[in-house]
Amino acid sequence: MSSVTVRVPAKVNVQLAVGPLRDDGYHDLVNVFHAVSLFDEVVAKESEAVTVRVEGDNVEQVPLDDSNLAIQAARALAKHAGRTYGVELIIRKAIPVAGGMAGGSADAAGALVACNELWGLGLPREDLMEIAADLGSDVPFSLLGGTAVGTGRGEQLTPVPARGRFHWVFAVADGGLSTATVYGECDRLREATGEKVAWPQVSEPLLAALREGDAAGLGALLANDLQPAAVMLRRSLARTLEVGQELGALGAIVSGSGPTCAFLAAGEEQAEKLAVALMGAGVCRTAVTAYGEVPGAQIMAA
Ligand code: C5P
Repeated sequence: MSSVTVRVPAKVNVQLAVGPLRDDGYHDLVNVFHAVSLFDEVVAKESEAVTVRVEGDNVEQVPLDDSNLAIQAARALAKHAGRTYGVELIIRKAIPVAGGMAGGSADAAGALVACNELWGLGLPREDLMEIAADLGSDVPFSLLGGTAVGTGRGEQLTPVPARGRFHWVFAVADGGLSTATVYGECDRLREATGEKVAWPQVSEPLLAALREGDAAGLGALLANDLQPAAVMLRRSLARTLEVGQELGALGAIVSGSGPTCAFLAAGEEQAEKLAVALMGAGVCRTAVTAYGEVPGAQIMAA
């Protein structure tokens, strides 16, 4: 086999409850992940060395050295197999870079699946999930896809049912936000306001709305504890969220650590109209529509 192509979805967090800061620098979470139809493509080709090339919008922000998560994924997989392998990774990005939609995690998950196939390792998904958890908190979900509750730092996943299709609009901002910086700002805001940090709990009504395919219910229950921090770091997001709501979104939320804003729409047509209106209002760099849920990392061609 000389080339493998894997498609990996973006995620939106329909609930992100951030608990106390742990000794290891992470926060205990309840993170309800939902995979949406915005895909990065990871192509793995035979090569002597491990290299990466990234194609798409705003990709100059993506590192091409060993700090690239897809390179780290390929190296971690080779190490797990106890061998030295090379691979040329080509990443075609559609997921906003540093946008709070797990784009980097998607590429790492894609690299794991693609290299597992290219190198003929035949490792089961459970092994890939373990390697994924060491690479980053969101990487296991990029492998799994669908809709799932993440606990711990987000890597311990329990799939949950979601009926039908939820239609989303994502307002992409100029530039990204660092996940670590947003969590740090969240801690700073909590300390400044003396907020008592509760142990994170999953919202049962939100799980019911997902299970019943109730978009209006889900829209009203979207919740993200990182939102105040993301808005503090990027004040313009407050206006983006407000405009989306005024334009009739069923719910408006910062996606993960931002700065992408996610809007839930009643249907496909409403989502298309909302995207056009958000762009017209000049409150984002661009707006794209997508639906969820979709599966995690999948081999498209080998
Ligand atoms: O796991 P990942 O490397 O993607 O996390 C990036 C950063 O986000 C961490 O270094 C940490 O600052 C923050 N984070 C956190 N709690 C989590 C997940 C991430 O504080 N549960």
